[in-house]
Formats: sequence, C-alpha cells, structure tokens
Amino acid sequence: MPNIVIIGTQWGDEGKGKIVDLLAENADIVARFQGGNNAGHTMVVEGQKFISHLVPSGILQGKHCVIGNGLVVDPAVLLKEIDYLAEKGINTGPDKLKISEKAHLIMPYHKAIDNAREQKKGDNKIGTTGRGIGPCYEDKATRRGVRFVDLIDETVFDERVRTILDEKNFYLKQYFNAPTIDPDQVIDEYKRYAERLVPYVTNVSVELDQAIHKGEQVLFEGAQGTHLDIDHGTYPFVTSSNTVSANACSGVGIGPRHIHGVLGIVKAYTTRVGAGPFPTELFDAVGDAIQEKGAEFGATTGRRRRCGWLDTVIVRNAVRLNGLTGLVITKLDVLGGQEVIKVCNAYDYKGETLSEFPTDLKIVADCKPVYESLPGWDEDIRDIRRREDLPENARRYLARVEELTETPIDIISVGPGRQETIVLNNPLT
Ligand code: GDP
Ligand code: IMO
Ligand code: MG
Repeated sequence: MPNIVIIGTQWGDEGKGKIVDLLAENADIVARFQGGNNAGHTMVVEGQKFISHLVPSGILQGKHCVIGNGLVVDPAVLLKEIDYLAEKGINTGPDKLKISEKAHLIMPYHKAIDNAREQKKGDNKIGTTGRGIGPCYEDKATRRGVRFVDLIDETVFDERVRTILDEKNFYLKQYFNAPTIDPDQVIDEYKRYAERLVPYVTNVSVELDQAIHKGEQVLFEGAQGTHLDIDHGTYPFVTSSNTVSANACSGVGIGPRHIHGVLGIVKAYTTRVGAGPFPTELFDAVGDAIQEKGAEFGATTGRRRRCGWLDTVIVRNAVRLNGLTGLVITKLDVLGGQEVIKVCNAYDYKGETLSEFPTDLKIVADCKPVYESLPGWDEDIRDIRRREDLPENARRYLARVEELTETPIDIISVGPGRQETIVLNNPLT
C-alpha cells in the first residue's frame, strides 16, 4: 500500500490542505511532520470552509491524524482547533488524533522573542508569522526545549520552565527591553493544557510502524513550501524546519523505505507571504488581478500575498529536492481571463542564463526572469472534470509545465472545493 508525501513546491500556500483532504479519502492515516501553526491549510467541503493550523487535513474525512515529533505545537492553538472541529461534529478525540511525545511545545517566551526580534529588525525583518516557530526550533537545537513528554510529569515540567525562563527573561528584559514572563503563570496555564492534551500523547513512531505493517496507508502532509526550507530555501527568508519530503521520515520516526511517492503541489502562478526574494513577482495590474481573483490573503495572518507568474526554475528545484513523482497544479481557474500567461523558465543574470536558483541572494536580486508567453483562455473552468475538456490553451499551459519540469501532472485543481478537481492519477489507489 503506497504511502505518499504531499509537499509545497513554492513558498507555501499552494493548496496543500485541499489536496490532502481530497486524497485522505483513500488513506488510513494523515500525518504532519514539521512546522507548527505558522501553517494555514484550507479545505472547502460542501461550501463550508475549514482552516487548520495544526490538526492534519485528513480530519474532515474522519481519518486517524498524527502530529509528529518534527512539529512545534502551541497547545492553546491546538486545543482551540480541536474544540472548533468538535463543534462542527468532527471527532477530534484521542482515538482519532495522536501527538508525539517528542514534539516540542511552543511556550509564551517563544512568541515574545519572535515578535521582539522582528520588531528590532525593522526593515530587515523576515516577516515571520509571529507564532514563535523560530525560537522554539532554536531551543530544540540547543537542547533546552520543552516536549510533550515533559508535560506528563508536573515536577519535571515545573523545574524545566523555571530554569529556562530565568535565561529567557534576562534576554527579553536586557536585550529587547520587553516585558518579562511570570513562571507561575506559565506553569499554571500549561498544567491546564496538560490535563486535556496528555491523553493524546503517544509514541507516534511505534504506532505508525505497527499501522504500516498492518497495511494501512499513510499520507504525509507537508507544511510551508520547498523554498521556505531551512537548508534549501531562500535563507534567511525561510522558516525554521526542513520542509522537504525527506523530513517526512525523521519528523514522525519511520524509515525512507516506507515512502513510495511524493506529490508536489504547484500553484499555477506564484505567491509569497512575508519578506524575501521572489524573481517573478508582479507589481502591476496583472499581479493585482491574480491577487484579487485568487483571494490571495494568508490563511494564518491574513496578510496580502505577493503574486507573480509561475517560476519553473523553482519548481524544477523542488522536483529534485523532494524527488517528486508527480505534480498537482492548483488554482488553474485563477489564470482564466488573462490574455497572455507567462512562465519563467530561466533567469538572466547580467547577460548570463541561469537555469538553477542561485544560493547567493545578492545574485538572485539581480536575476531577471526569462519568460515564455502562452495564450490564455476566457472560459470558466471550475465545472470541468476531465483534462480533455479544458480549453485548448489551458491544456497547452499544463503540457508546457510538464515539459519544463519533466514531471507528470497527476491532479489539476480548478476551484477551492473538494470536488473541483480533475484527478488523472490518484497515487493512493
Ligand atoms: P496551503 O497552505 O498549501 O494548504 O494553502 P492555503 O489554504 O493557505 O491557500 C490556498 C488557498 O487557495 C485556499 O484559500 C484554498 O481554498 C484555495 N484553493 C485551493 N485550490 C484552489 C483552486 O484550485 N482554485 C481556487 N480558486 N482556489 C483554490
Ligand atoms: P503553509 O503551510 C506561507 C513564512 C512566513 C515568513 C517565513 C518565516 O500554510 O503553506 P515563521 O513564522 O515560519 O518563522 O515565518 O515563512 N511562512 C509561510 N508562508 N505559508 C506557510 O505555511 C508559511 N509558514 C511560514 O510568512 O515569511
Ligand atoms: Mg497556507
């Protein structure tokens, strides 16, 4: 039974939530393996919209959902999400949702430091989501994180928080001139979260291994996108985790032989929220039209997303970095009405043609996209369910994307709804 990883190929918000929700129908388990509530994954089912930040997007299909050790979890946000989904009649109990005992907890000081840092950076800020993601991963790497396993024993938790806060408060007060945090308040607050969350905490690696051996099918849900990866993205304008497919294994505790395919989600154009390089960004009426038609506002922070043409230099990068076996093109409907659609296939750097994304951001800043222009279409395609019924120019566009990325398209999304999809090859069936 194939286990498949779903990954964003660009800078996030490619439509991962919609596709995970759709494909979850044929999965037994949906597992998140990295990130935190910086993610905002949207699902639209029978006209109802759900946005999940932490709970895997398989929950609406009633599947078992797993929060892996690779995540950083804000317990208040998780509980809010659990309650919100439960109010809608969705089972989010410990029989459906599991949290790794090794996942790290986002603490109030992580959020305070994230925001204080961004403020201090002024114009040089990264434009983080302010959710404490970077400072939490930083504590994980420097071995002073707090994990779910620590929530189980009150004495351990108490001592750990007091020791860490001693240092954090010094940093907050002396370096940022920011308010300090009262350890008693944090301990009280987190004890309340523990009462509700401890029943969800388990050894995810063991449970997934057992499920896989029983022949259950796992869908791994990536968050963010390949170019926000801490190693392979546009550093330092990235998030603080590995977003690429290989991390699906270490982020839940299974070996690579259990992964059988990787689907890369490609928005039919490009968006980015937050700061950082974006070679094909549009600053004209076309960019505004795409932003408006695509309703490109962040699902987490509500920020306006920057918009531009499809950049196949970065998609090719994602094909290699993730070992993509297939592509999912989303939001194809949004390009309808454009007379001409441009696709970037290389960069021009001072007269030299570059086919790979440069690591040095000073070089990226001087790169001009090399575009090819394709004819657009006017038809509304949201009701189309077969590739051959798409307007000829939409088919041409898709065929060109396949050529430029040397990767087949498995799914085409033509609207936000679960059903507004053309499935050419379902990797789970
Ligand atoms: P994710 O973070 O990758 O899950 O993506 P987001 O949910 O942040 O952003 C994608 C947005 O596009 C959401 O509002 C989706 O409802 C919407 N969306 C997804 N697929 C399509 C599509 O094919 N067409 C249109 N018009 N909207 C889509
Ligand atoms: P999904 O899963 C788009 C961006 C932030 C910022 C940078 C670092 O919905 O695709 P962080 O808070 O992670 O330290 O911010 O990463 N970012 C995202 N952009 N979609 C996301 O998630 C993102 N998660 C983080 O805007 O530029
Ligand atoms: Mg999103």
